[in-house]
Amino acid sequence: MANLRIVNLTKRFSEVLAVDNLSLEVADGEFVTLLGPSGCGKTTTLRTIAGFCYPDEGEIFFGDKIMNNISPNKRNTAMCFQSYALFPHMSVWNNISFGLKMQKISQQEQKERVLKVMGMLGIEGLEKRKPGELSGGQQQRVALARAIVTEPQVLLFDEPLSNLDAKLRVQVRVEIREMQKRLGITTIYVTHDQDEALAISDRIVVMNRGHIEQLGDPYTIYRNPETSFVAGFIGLANIYEGTIVSRDGSRYTVEAPFGKVVIVSDGQKIPEASKTVKFVWRPEDMKIYTPGAPNRVKGKILQAVFMGNISDIFMDVQGNKMRAQTDESRKLVAGEVMEFSIPEDAFSILRR
Ligand SMILES: Nc1ncnc2c1ncn2[C@@H]1O[C@H](COP(=O)(O)OP(=O)(O)OP(=O)(O)O)[C@@H](O)[C@H]1O
Ligand SMILES: [Mg+2]
Repeated sequence: MANLRIVNLTKRFSEVLAVDNLSLEVADGEFVTLLGPSGCGKTTTLRTIAGFCYPDEGEIFFGDKIMNNISPNKRNTAMCFQSYALFPHMSVWNNISFGLKMQKISQQEQKERVLKVMGMLGIEGLEKRKPGELSGGQQQRVALARAIVTEPQVLLFDEPLSNLDAKLRVQVRVEIREMQKRLGITTIYVTHDQDEALAISDRIVVMNRGHIEQLGDPYTIYRNPETSFVAGFIGLANIYEGTIVSRDGSRYTVEAPFGKVVIVSDGQKIPEASKTVKFVWRPEDMKIYTPGAPNRVKGKILQAVFMGNISDIFMDVQGNKMRAQTDESRKLVAGEVMEFSIPEDAFSILRR
């Protein structure tokens, strides 16, 4: 096992800047997810770690060892893709033991290790089948077994679950996480599914156009996004800009297009001289207004979408669009006027 360091990595494909001066340190045994929109450089970063892609600039370290000139098969990484890339003509057993054969591991040890991972992933009994005779979830587990059986230093996943249906995706991601924790393998996981990233990661790297937009644990990324890109990419967001009109300790009164709001902030992100601030809050933080509650907003429902446990409301507040979510059990209809309150500590100040 090892920690992984990416130092000032840049990769271009002719005029496309796929990865832009990216630096990242992943601790030994840590599970880090790269999350971002299509084309932001996630796969390129993974491929560079695996050695299938040579950096234009920068270094990759496993522990203290620089890997740039080490060929992929000598890096002791394993990669697991969206398309399982199993050998179709080989049995499950031979697919899983393939890497061990390449490493010239003894027959006896091969047998022990293959049986062990098959047990861990609950695919015992499928040894003789061919990949074409397995369900998607089983194929995914075989691909996983094949990746971990070689006990790699670094495990790389590129959207491994996107071919599975929603329920199975949740089930297999729990299995991946449990197995990774048990084995303590340093893992980089790529997805563009935000729920998956929040559920599975020690830390999340939100990428945008080849660079790191924010790096943090799931709670921080969700509750304290630093930029409107992060706030808008993960979860639902109301993002506004306003002018600071007064300050009382950590409470800022801000004149926003939809009215005045009081925002509680430790102030670190608000320069004293700054007059305008950008801020975000989540629709689910909005509460039905009760007398005395802070930050009262009155809006007209444009659309209310019943989701079962909650209603998702799009409303107009003095000409401004705002989204709210409420567990109000009655049926809400367009045209109705509703009053909400936004808790003072629900806001995050954004850098841009
Ligand atoms: N071999 C290549 N040749 C030319 N351009 C490439 C190549 N590989 C990637 N790119 C470009 O580099 C950028 C980053 O691609 P990358 O595959 O890393 O994105 P990604 O974040 O994995 O996206 P997705 O979520 O769609 O898989 C994209 O603009 C892509 O078109
Ligand atoms: Mg990709």
